[in-house]
Amino acid sequence: MSKENLHYYIETYGCQMNVYDSEIIASMLRECGYLETRKIDMADAIFLNTCAIREKAEETVHNRLVSLEYLKKKKPKMLLGVLGCMAQNLKDSLLETKPFVDVILGPDSYRRLPEIINSRNNTRNSYVDTRLSKYELYNDLFPSRKEGVNAWISISRGCDKFCTFCIVPFTRGRERNRPIKSIIQEVENAVKLGFVEITLLGQNVNSYRTEHGSFPELLEAVAKVRGVKRIRYTSPHPKDVDDSLLQVMSDNRNICNYIHLPLQSGDNRILNRMNRTYTREKYLDLVKRIRNYIPNCSLTTDIIVGFPGETEKEFEATLDIMKKVNFDSAFMFKYSARPGTKAEEYSDHIVESVKQKRLERVIELQRQTTLMRNKMLIGKKVQVLVEKESKKSSKQWAGRTDGNSWVIFNKTNENIKDIVDVIIHDAHGVTLFGDRLFKKELANEIN
Ligand code: SAH
Ligand code: SF4
Ligand code: F3S
Repeated sequence: MSKENLHYYIETYGCQMNVYDSEIIASMLRECGYLETRKIDMADAIFLNTCAIREKAEETVHNRLVSLEYLKKKKPKMLLGVLGCMAQNLKDSLLETKPFVDVILGPDSYRRLPEIINSRNNTRNSYVDTRLSKYELYNDLFPSRKEGVNAWISISRGCDKFCTFCIVPFTRGRERNRPIKSIIQEVENAVKLGFVEITLLGQNVNSYRTEHGSFPELLEAVAKVRGVKRIRYTSPHPKDVDDSLLQVMSDNRNICNYIHLPLQSGDNRILNRMNRTYTREKYLDLVKRIRNYIPNCSLTTDIIVGFPGETEKEFEATLDIMKKVNFDSAFMFKYSARPGTKAEEYSDHIVESVKQKRLERVIELQRQTTLMRNKMLIGKKVQVLVEKESKKSSKQWAGRTDGNSWVIFNKTNENIKDIVDVIIHDAHGVTLFGDRLFKKELANEIN
């Protein structure tokens, strides 16, 4: 078979880091002459880029592999690879229970792919490389992105924070930061390809530091690249948000008034046990500082309920702080024990039924708060970046506000990637509804 006929198929699980890595992997596979296919049955090489953050994420991949075994039997020459965080974490059990997997590569070993692919007929053994690197940044590789509005750009890899519940420092290794120059080059390239929104990515974006500058300086440099209409970043760690970052955000119009600020818990004993390195008071003080610099800043968060030893009262401290901050939205999780982490060794794990009840309570509280925050926008003018046609009607657009909320409005003369003024007239669930506001109407409104 000639190389031109070979196809790859990648399925990505987990966070945006993995989405970014899949784009890097895709660009390497293209270099090897492979074309992408969306039909898994057509693929000569299938890769699952996996996540290990919670037990459920791992179960999903195990089940997927079971269902892929039939394909492998049908097409023994097809290459089946497990990449990413689970490969890093579970290589032994994968090798034992899924012997039909050909390739297991951790997040720092993707450069091995071309060599593996080119020699794939020479060996029947599984190929495993899960060594972590202190240096690998894939700096020279330009990701092969799907067309769209937003380009995710990784600015660092790994994490040194070692929150006691988290597997990431083990699966992704030590923190490394990419030089500002190479990030800016990637931003410029993305703009040339038509992307107008940039989201800087890292496990701790704001602990970014290189000899040429730290995170606020990087952010400012990105904001100055011509053609970048919007900039977001995720995730910052509350401990590393300083005033210079908030100043840069307030000074640059194209940096969104939006911060995803993972809280995890509202109780000091639990925060300490999680090794989060801030207290409830410090977090609340930070929120106050953010709102001083950026009065209309949207805040979203991550919450874990049922961390080992969490009492009812400690859980209620989380509800309490959520009521004080009024997050625009939140990702909420039941604690999931991760083998090898410190929290897994604690002796006082919470039973599933209690975790479930607590999860339902935070979800309900957040549902009400999101609706309340969105209703506050009724009658207000927001700026919407037009992203795509609404799923419900071809006569409507869907776009996001600066604060990251979705808005649906009737099409007029605007195009995808335009930023337009919209007046909000309704809010349902997590979605806002509005009407395009034109300059003339705007003048009337203000008069
Ligand atoms: N680096 C990011 C988080 C990456 S993981 C940060 O520090 O903000 C995304 C979220 O998954 C975390 O914020 C946390 O809320 C959740 N998470 C991580 N490990 C978890 C675990 N063992 N059980 C449940 N949720 C977890
Ligand atoms: Fe995990 Fe904590 Fe690092 Fe985030 S900061 S990736 S939660 S260890
Ligand atoms: Fe999952 Fe790895 Fe991301 S564990 S959340 S894919 S860093």
